[in-house]
Amino acid sequence: MTKKLKLGIMLSGRGTNFQALIDACKNPDFPAEISLVVSNQMSAEGLTRAREANIPCIAIPHIEFSNRELFENEISAKLKDAKVELVCLAGFMRILTTEFVKEWHNKIINIHPSLLPAFRGLDTHQRVLSEGVKISGCTVHYVRAEVDTGPIIVQAAVPVLPTDNEETLSERILFAEHKCYPLAVKLIASGDVIIEGDVVTFSGKYNCPDNLMNPTN
Ligand code: GAR
Repeated sequence: MTKKLKLGIMLSGRGTNFQALIDACKNPDFPAEISLVVSNQMSAEGLTRAREANIPCIAIPHIEFSNRELFENEISAKLKDAKVELVCLAGFMRILTTEFVKEWHNKIINIHPSLLPAFRGLDTHQRVLSEGVKISGCTVHYVRAEVDTGPIIVQAAVPVLPTDNEETLSERILFAEHKCYPLAVKLIASGDVIIEGDVVTFSGKYNCPDNLMNPTN
């Protein structure tokens, strides 16, 4: 097998998307491996998941730094020490500076729980429900300076049910996130992703799913 792409994970909380990447990396054919996990929260469950999986991890609490640049410089230094080639934001709840995003240009991706460019920012599911949206979903995208923008790599559509509340909808979307994130990483690591301006295309085989309509009656 050819050399695997080295991933750096940045997270703040429970880390279920990180777990999906850990599980994907267990497959010997998966073209990436996790080199380092960084959390800005000492008590993040994601750090426990890293320790359990024997993945190097480090807490870099933002509150210990007098400004964002110093905080991010420390993160960048650790990622570079670990020879990280692709940074995966997995529920990292700090806004990144333009400098950091530029430094990792086209080497940093994020997962967001909506069909971008709709519903950028926080409280996504609550806003989707109050707008009466019928199909939501999740997006994996390259990171640009503006929050929740950047070339889209993979999206999954998830129907919103009349009975949904924030919890049930977020649970169903999270299930889709756990499929999308490993797929996006696989596509990048296999060299199949081409970025042209703001648009991603693929050089490899393209499987197109059926349309999703909601409701169907
Ligand atoms: C996920 O739903 C992810 O899409 C969201 O945070 C959650 C993290 O869950 N990210 C954002 O909202 C970023 N804008 P996890 O820690 O269990 O992976």
